[in-house]
Amino acid sequence: MELDLRQSWKIGAVEIPSRLALAPMAGVSVQAYRRQARRFGAGLVWSEMVSAAGLEHGSRRTRDYLRVGSGEHPIALQIFGSEPAQAAEAARMAEAAGADVVDLNLGCPVRKVMKSGAGSALLEQPELACRIVEAMATAVSTPVTVKLRSGIEPGSRACIELGPQLASAGAQALVLHPRAQRQMYGGSADHSLTAELAALVEIPVIASGDIRSGEQARALLDAGAAAVMVGRAAQGNPWLLSEILSGEEQEPSQAEVAAELVQFMREVARELGEKRAQSFLKKFYGWYLRRGRFPRQLRRELVEVLTLSSAEKLLLEAAPDAEPLITELEASAAR
Ligand SMILES: Cc1cc2nc3c(=O)[nH]c(=O)nc-3n(C[C@H](O)[C@H](O)[C@H](O)COP(=O)(O)O)c2cc1C
Repeated sequence: MELDLRQSWKIGAVEIPSRLALAPMAGVSVQAYRRQARRFGAGLVWSEMVSAAGLEHGSRRTRDYLRVGSGEHPIALQIFGSEPAQAAEAARMAEAAGADVVDLNLGCPVRKVMKSGAGSALLEQPELACRIVEAMATAVSTPVTVKLRSGIEPGSRACIELGPQLASAGAQALVLHPRAQRQMYGGSADHSLTAELAALVEIPVIASGDIRSGEQARALLDAGAAAVMVGRAAQGNPWLLSEILSGEEQEPSQAEVAAELVQFMREVARELGEKRAQSFLKKFYGWYLRRGRFPRQLRRELVEVLTLSSAEKLLLEAAPDAEPLITELEASAAR
């Protein structure tokens, strides 16, 4: 049967309105980012990874990562950890916080995380990884999923062996980013592994890695993926999500780009507070201003100003037509 990106589907009993998911990205996937992606058609959005140990230790900052608001559902909250009981408790907290899906990270390649035995390190600990999934699946009634890489070393096929075991342990969907841990984000994702894994397990497999177009997305569905996940390509470019879904090129006007950015800045400021928002937003200016033909120096000026309201003023000077669009966005966000 030919799948359509705009079709709804399910993970366990959770209905997901499209086959396009927003990737978890630490330092990027805040609530405002997720809400915006839902508006542009992502059927399922992911939180940044949240430390099970941090939750156990009562860290307030860690706990804040579990915050979910209206306009984000359905949402997967992602946990990383290496101890079954601790991960199970984290899953309970995620469920209580409003997660529709609780996801386990088996992909993070960062040394600090791996040293704690979590993230990609679990790819080489299949028995422990399965115990963690089992403990989480027993602890919550929302579906538990796992996001994994292909393996540690380039060429590794660990995911093909591990995937069916994770499904038997209780995972109700898998997300595969078919790059090895050692590749970090270099080289390219080998989606032949995604197709192989999808053919092997009965649960849905979501493809993650290097997806930038509707054509690629549809090819992955044809190859057996239940859905596709977009990460870096959608940074500062939510229009790509509607482009992938509709198959029609989206070229936002300068006013639209400025309005989305201003609305995003306001929402991030409300979420993180002005000070944290300011440093968080710096990377987004460059990402957004790739579109809309803005003056070259604007990005630098935005990074250098001292307050977000000055940044907003600069954007509105560059794109005065954005003002009514921002009013509209604010009004629909308040609804
Ligand atoms: C800045 C950044 C942060 C990321 N953080 C996470 C994370 O917290 N959890 C996770 O499972 N994957 C994380 N990833 C991996 C992405 O979810 C995705 O699998 C990967 O970037 C490949 O997809 P892409 O080519 O569409 O970006 C991160 C990637 C980037 C670039």
